Parts: sequence; C-alpha cells; structure tokens
Amino acid sequence: MKVLIVGSGGREHAIAWKVAQSPKVEKIYCAPGNAGISSVAECVPIGAMEFDKLVAFAKEKAIDLTVIGMDDPLVGGIVDEFEKAGLRVFGPRKNAAILEGSKAFSKNLMKKYNIPTAAYETFTDPEEALRYLETAKMPIVLKADGLALGKGVLICQNLEEAKAGVQELMLDKKFGSAGDEIVIEEFMTGREVSVLSFVDGNIVKIMSSAQDHKRAKDGDQGLNTGGMGNFSPSPFYTEEVDAFCKKYIYQPTVDAMKAEGRPFKGVIFFGLMLTPDGPKVLEYNARFGDPEAQVVLPRLENDIVDVFEACVDGTLDQIDLKFDNDRATVCVILASDGYPVAYEKGFPIKGLEYFEGKDDYYVFHSGTKFNDQGQIVTNGGRVLGVTATGGSLKEARAKAYEATEWVQFANKYMRTDIGKAIDEA
Ligand code: AMP
Ligand code: GLY
Repeated sequence: MKVLIVGSGGREHAIAWKVAQSPKVEKIYCAPGNAGISSVAECVPIGAMEFDKLVAFAKEKAIDLTVIGMDDPLVGGIVDEFEKAGLRVFGPRKNAAILEGSKAFSKNLMKKYNIPTAAYETFTDPEEALRYLETAKMPIVLKADGLALGKGVLICQNLEEAKAGVQELMLDKKFGSAGDEIVIEEFMTGREVSVLSFVDGNIVKIMSSAQDHKRAKDGDQGLNTGGMGNFSPSPFYTEEVDAFCKKYIYQPTVDAMKAEGRPFKGVIFFGLMLTPDGPKVLEYNARFGDPEAQVVLPRLENDIVDVFEACVDGTLDQIDLKFDNDRATVCVILASDGYPVAYEKGFPIKGLEYFEGKDDYYVFHSGTKFNDQGQIVTNGGRVLGVTATGGSLKEARAKAYEATEWVQFANKYMRTDIGKAIDEA
C-alpha cells in the first residue's frame, strides 16, 4: 500500500512512524512533512491547504489511503475533495469536522443531546455580549467560535477582564473571523483529561487517556500554547470516569452527529474536565491531538492502517483495539524560547543521533527543517517532542527528562514539570 499523510508537526511524525510499522505499507509520503518525518516518509513540498495539488498528487502516485492530521484542512473540507476524486481518505468530512470548527455548533449539539458540558450562551452582537456579562457570575470563559490555534479561549476573573475580552475577540478581531461569534460559558474547576477515539460513523473506540500541559511555563503559568508536554495514561481517568463517559459522552456524541446527518469518521478528541459534578466536555477536536498522538501511539498494539481502514469502511466493530496498559509514556516539548509569542528559528540541532537504535526513546519532530547545508535546524515554536515509555509514569518521566539533555540547540526551552502531578498523585 501507498499512504499519504497530510501535515507537518510532531503529531504527523508519530502517525507516520506508526504507519511505517505496518507490514502492508510499502511507501509513505508526507505533505509537507518536516526533517524528522523524512526519516520515515518521503516529504513532498505541497501545503496542507493546497487541496487541488494534494488530490492531483494522490492520483498521480496511486495513493491507497490518505490520512489528514491537521484541523485546518479538515475544517476546510479536504476529505470531501478527496472523496469526490474517488480517493480513500481517513478523516471527517467538512460537515462533521465542524465539531471542532465551530464552538457554537458543538455547544448547541451538546445541549440538544444532553451531553454534559459547561452552561453557556452564544453571541454575534458585541453589545448583547457586554450586557449579558453585567449580571454573569465570575470567573467566566470567553471562546472565539472558530479555529484560533488553541488560543481563542479567555478565562476572565472579573467583569473588567471579560469586557476587555469581548473587545479583543469581537471588535478588535484578534483572531479574525473566528471571533464573529463567541461562546460565553461557565467556569469549571477540576482536572483535565484528553481522550482520543477512533470513530467509523456509527461506533467509537477509545484510546488510552492523556493529560496535556497547555501553559507555557512551569506551574501552569504563562500563556496558553498548543501543548508543552503530556503523559499517558492519566491516573485520574479511573474506571468510574470511563464508565460515565462511555454512557453519557462518547457514543452519545457519535449518535448525535449521525442523527444530525453529519456522520463522523476519523478521530474525535474529547477534551474533558473532571468536575465535582462529574466529567464534562470542554471541547471536541476532529483529529489526533499534538502532542497527544506522541504519547498514545507508541503504546497502540494494532496495525494502525487496519484501524484507519476500518473507520473508512464502517467496520470498526471488527477491530479489537489494544494498548500496552502496563506501560506509560511521557512527552516533553523542546520549544524555541519565546514561544508562543515571538521566537527565532534556523538554529542547528545537535544530538538527535542519540535516539537511534534505543528502545523506549523517541524524538518526534514538530518544527524542524534541513537548511542549505543539509543540517537539521529549528523551524517553529515547538521544535521536538522528546518522548519515552517506561514501566510506570514515574519511570517514563525520568527517562524523557534524561533524553531532553541529549539534544542541544540555541534558545532551547522546556517546562521542567511535565507529569509532576503523577508524583503527587
Ligand atoms: P479549549 O480550547 O476549549 O479546550 O480551552 C482551552 C483551555 O481553557 C482548556 O484546556 C481549559 O484549561 C480552559 N477552559 C476552557 N473552557 C473552560 C471552562 N469552561 N472552565 C474552565 N476552564 C476552561
Ligand atoms: N494538545 C492539544 C491539541 O492538540 O489540541
């Protein structure tokens, strides 16, 4: 089989690495990919939003299966374009990717189908939003409706901050048209857990849980980022939580999408908050998380291509999804100092060879490229996801931090407390 993967981050590197283990696969392409991905796939210089070029490439190379890693092309309808051309593709169509593409859509869906989530209102008129805030309980949460690189969520402690938030999202349009509509919702407290799942339009199968660290600095300080590191499984995702979510959240979401005439095929990422009133949905994503894929896929025991195909064909019931639950994984992101605001790129990266031939240690590239001299250099805010598995979360964490020392580049920055909650649990 020939497989094409669309995307260029650590998530796509983890997907490509896992696809490469399939005995069915003879060739992998990745568009556009990065320097690390080129160790397992042939990278082709086509952007993830260049649908016509991607379709033409897939036809020319007779690609058997295309896997879409990123949210932007999914929300933009890339799957519909591939299907129209008669190509097999893993991911939700545009009318289902809206589950991530519009927070107003997903909140309304949860309300209609009684899926537990924070109480909320939606607004398209800034005046009305401001009036609503006058009597609302603080703290309160403001969310831009559309995609904003995970940064369109504002937690406001008081009325003043909330009003400034409406100004920023709806009037100054800090996230462009993503702020044409906003969701204002109740502030929830509790532990956050990420749960990825495979969905075939009808049924859902859950992957191992993970816990992200979204803030830039230690102790959950600093700005929200795409994710600075994480671990899997989460010790807080108990059997009780799992049973509750299976009954009230996972399958009900898949059934709701089907009932709305928007059958979902692909990965649903459930962002959950374990509140004192039980688990509630914070958000849905229509794809693997980054870096959730990096901690979950190393422990997936199935041939991932079989699972992708079962989702496309609607035969997921025939797959016995298995994870190595005796082991745990920790990923620490090595970033460029200054991320997520301003940072420099183009610095040579040393020490990547230490990972070669070592079981349990992985380095998934997020933002790297080859420079003119053929050296691997930094090319993004998040640069590498240094990942390790071990017999316990504690061991995996120690190994991941040990491996962060093997790699050097100018302006290297990381959080030093990824998975610290594990030691305290
Ligand atoms: P989201 O992109 O919707 O997951 O939001 C980003 C982050 O903001 C989440 O991971 C939470 O830490 C936080 N957040 C979002 N919604 C709420 C809420 N209703 N209450 C408390 N924190 C929230
Ligand atoms: N790590 C969070 C995300 O991928 O959205």
